[in-house]
Amino acid sequence: MKEKAFAKLNISLDVSRARDDGYHDLKMIMQSVTFCDEVDVNLNESGIFSARTNLAYVPSDDKNLAVKAAKVILGGSGQGAEITIDKKIPVGAGMAGGSADAAAVLRAVNRLLGNRYSLEELARLGERVGSDVPYCVINGTALAEGRGEILTPLNDFPDCEIVICKPSFAISTPELFKAIDRVKIRAHPDTEGIIEAVGRGDLREICRRMYNTFEEVDDHRMRTVTEIKKTLIRSGAMGAIMTGTGSAVFGIFEPGSDVLPIAENLKKEYGFAVTAKPENKSEL
Ligand code: C5P
Repeated sequence: MKEKAFAKLNISLDVSRARDDGYHDLKMIMQSVTFCDEVDVNLNESGIFSARTNLAYVPSDDKNLAVKAAKVILGGSGQGAEITIDKKIPVGAGMAGGSADAAAVLRAVNRLLGNRYSLEELARLGERVGSDVPYCVINGTALAEGRGEILTPLNDFPDCEIVICKPSFAISTPELFKAIDRVKIRAHPDTEGIIEAVGRGDLREICRRMYNTFEEVDDHRMRTVTEIKKTLIRSGAMGAIMTGTGSAVFGIFEPGSDVLPIAENLKKEYGFAVTAKPENKSEL
């Protein structure tokens, strides 16, 4: 059973507070994009779980969120799963690649089980795999709160062109969450303002308000993030920010803009850059 695992971008990311359970309360506007991994799942009766990918450094055992997801949905049934992932979403980019693969496994296995679970139930299963997995189950445009698992679907994102660029370094999510605790946060995104702008389909207003609190972390790598943002804006982006805990940065352009040359230039300079479009909600 083949399933696409769409990359996620943060249109906004607000860190509210560190919690006692080791997580942080967040408020994020999430958007999935057409750029994706391809996941293929085959069930077996041997009860063995495995994952194979085109990248040598991606784990094939329980450390791979896709395997964890298969175990969560099939646990106790005696069935196992053989998962093949064609990975295109870079690791350590803030694009929820691992979570998207896990969510794709949940959707694929669910289909193989004759849609035993609703999308909502699948999202709840995803919570046990990782904070971003419930969102990656439903995709589209959504407000994510709590540790990321409390979801409110929003209107579809207005049509636009997107350029995503990742510098050669990755950023570890737990590391940046620790670093943000040492920062006196200067500004918070106007989440409500973005929700209203999404409701009206007002791309210019969305782009004006895009903001990621994690960019305030005092880390030399943020200089490269700023550099990429500036290049995107100079190239005509209406807005550009880092996604999640980075290191990928994206810019949003008017629909119909010729963004391919912009991505090609960024790729030459930083090693990874692609174009994408907004991806709408998943359906069963
Ligand atoms: O939920 P997940 O396993 O993806 O989270 C990985 C790590 O990221 C957590 O262990 C925690 O350090 C950090 N995190 C956080 N607050 C969140 C989500 C993740 O502090 N809302």
